[in-house]
Amino acid sequence: MLTYDLHTHILPGVDDGAKTAEDALELISSLKSQGICNICLTPHFYTHHESIEDFLERRTASARNFLPIVPDDVCVKLGAEVYVTKYLFSEERDMTPLCIEGTSFMITEFSYDSTFSDNTMRLITALRDRGITPVIPHVERYPFLLKNKKRLEELIYSGIIIQSNAVSFTQFSTKRKLIKLLKDGCIHVLSSDAHSTNRNSPLAMTAAVEYIKSKCGDDVIRTLQQNAEAIFKGK
Ligand SMILES: [Fe+2]
Repeated sequence: MLTYDLHTHILPGVDDGAKTAEDALELISSLKSQGICNICLTPHFYTHHESIEDFLERRTASARNFLPIVPDDVCVKLGAEVYVTKYLFSEERDMTPLCIEGTSFMITEFSYDSTFSDNTMRLITALRDRGITPVIPHVERYPFLLKNKKRLEELIYSGIIIQSNAVSFTQFSTKRKLIKLLKDGCIHVLSSDAHSTNRNSPLAMTAAVEYIKSKCGDDVIRTLQQNAEAIFKGK
């Protein structure tokens, strides 16, 4: 069983995820009903559109209203899904608040047609140089990485964490490829990336776990759980 979800768009009114506190509580309740009680709130941060300061101000404003109404038996942490561009580095700013709270793990995002060129790799190295461990979410959205296992392995060897969306394990077009990557140790974390009850529904978590179990066995689920726990706790 998984009890962590490291990548969600539940924090209300900050991005294209939950619009209201009611929507957000419904998503949390859905995760909770599946035993997932440790949740990262990781709204999109588009670094070419907004400064770190402005983003954090918007996130703080939402969190101030929302966190007090999160059920006591759910542990939430703030974070962000950071679209990595050169603008992220344009000012010497502390990026710690963009990482999963209390850790040095940052959910990142790149253009989906990225070829993970030398330029992109330099941006990743720049994050590493600041002591940040990037998590590349929904690896299945990067056709280049799916076709170029060597580059994916290069990222993994350099310490990058690879995450996949639960819903992708329920979709015919992706699920078999992802099982292969999982068996090869190229996926470390499973998350919902929930935006709403329809878009990346939290319920996909249980469906994905069942599918993975049937193809890979319980040990793989245990590893996914241990990895998520280590990241959540900043180990
Ligand atoms: Fe996301």
